[in-house]
Amino acid sequence: MRLLVNGESREVAVDAERSLLSVLRHELELTGTKYGCGEGNCGACTVLIDGEATRSCTTPAVSAAGRAITTVEGLADGDVLHPVQAAFVEETAFQCAYCTPGFIMSTVALLSRYPSPGEDETRAALSGHICRCGAYVRILRAVRTAAELLDRAKAEQR
Ligand code: FES
Ligand code: FES
Repeated sequence: MRLLVNGESREVAVDAERSLLSVLRHELELTGTKYGCGEGNCGACTVLIDGEATRSCTTPAVSAAGRAITTVEGLADGDVLHPVQAAFVEETAFQCAYCTPGFIMSTVALLSRYPSPGEDETRAALSGHICRCGAYVRILRAVRTAAELLDRAKAEQR
């Protein structure tokens, strides 16, 4: 099958039941997407499919064929971090950082829908993401900072 990942068309020969997470990590070596629970309950494996935050561990790779898949590796522009990544760094919104790619991908999806999300929208978008290190307060701060950075970047383009 052919997968469109981070703007590149990639050919993979895999069983129909293989999860998208497994294909990304083991066939395409995109290991930024993490394996946590494997059951859709922790958010570590979150990627964007056509802009929607999606648990890749419970998504068959075949169902993502022909759709635009974005992993955390696809966010930065060369050496320049995506504003959401920059905000997580600025707020040190992690300890071990295992959960961070998943939180970042859901934040990117959230801010594309709600450029200035309220607490309720943020909590709803990030519910189901687990941070074993308990960095939740800093993660919420990073979402607010990311919204500000994106707003500033848009203002500079006007
Ligand atoms: S590994 Fe996919 S939700 Fe936990
Ligand atoms: S920073 Fe360690 S799991 Fe979240």
